Amino acid sequence: MSRVAIVGATGAVGQTFRQVLEERQFPATEYVLLASERSAGKAVDWVGGQHTVKPLTADSFADVQFAFFSAGGSVSREYAPLAARTGALVIDNSSAFRMAPEVPLVVPEINADAARQHQGIIANPNCSTIIMTMPLWPLHRHNPVRRVVVSTYQAASGAGARALEELESQTRDVLAGQPAVPSVFHVPCAFNVFSHNTAIGEDGYNVEEKKMILETHKIVGDGSIAISPTCMRVPVARAHTESLAIEFSSAIEESAAREWLGAAPGVTVVDDRAQNRFPTPLDASDRDDVLVGRIRRDPSVPENRGLSLICSGDQLRKGAALNAVQIAELFI
Ligand code: A2P
Repeated sequence: MSRVAIVGATGAVGQTFRQVLEERQFPATEYVLLASERSAGKAVDWVGGQHTVKPLTADSFADVQFAFFSAGGSVSREYAPLAARTGALVIDNSSAFRMAPEVPLVVPEINADAARQHQGIIANPNCSTIIMTMPLWPLHRHNPVRRVVVSTYQAASGAGARALEELESQTRDVLAGQPAVPSVFHVPCAFNVFSHNTAIGEDGYNVEEKKMILETHKIVGDGSIAISPTCMRVPVARAHTESLAIEFSSAIEESAAREWLGAAPGVTVVDDRAQNRFPTPLDASDRDDVLVGRIRRDPSVPENRGLSLICSGDQLRKGAALNAVQIAELFI
């Protein structure tokens, strides 16, 4: 039994942490809900009682065994090492420590063993990366992946609770004949599709795209996989969708791929050609599994070594809170 802290408890991922921990009956004796001064004192009804949100301070982690961080990179950089020194196992949802060699970057279905090497902090990967690697891994195990061309259709809530509010209020404004005024995003998000809101480097790739490359290599433990990502936002509330064109080392049969994906934990195949029913973000929302479908041969790859598919996953659940809680469960 343990004392558990959630840093960023009032945010989009923080709220999902609360849901997931309750659903999975995480064996906590006490929860400490932490956020900024803005939310301090706020009452939250949850797991059988009322909890008061506390401001995050250096003293927040006394006797805490597990600390889930989801309040941004700068908060993690300042407080996660401190929590770890106090004795907590930190599971950090920010990008602050993901590429640090001494910090495991873990998707439990893929590299649970890496978690055991932790030195107090385990990093939770980027949401788009988790959602891509869930179907990629069971295929890669059978037939090593050489190259992936991935395009994302990412939900607004991936940019936080305020971004979701912006999508909702802008949609109402536009439908009422008012202009869509961007604030969280750099362009209007209602009725629009736009390049991911992270900064673009000199090479033309944005930060999200770079994460998909580097983090996939670290999780899968294979830096030789060539990855060509394009990350986009779409006016969807929740759950990211991704299109993957995958080149394998040797010929691959659709039927075998369907079988491997169907047997993979955390993956559900939704692939009904007759009814034109395939993964959608609405179906993936509030679900734990990553949905996979449109599984088909890619005729542009020679020797029958190519396969295309789409996947949809709840980026607040498997892409963030659920994956982090699954990591913690490896230690109870
Ligand atoms: P608050 O609600 O008090 O601003 P999201 O990703 O949905 O925007 O949520 C971010 C989360 O991180 C919120 O819970 C937010 O708390 C919290 N947060 C942001 N800045 C800090 C900070 N400096 N210290 C502690 N928590 C923070």
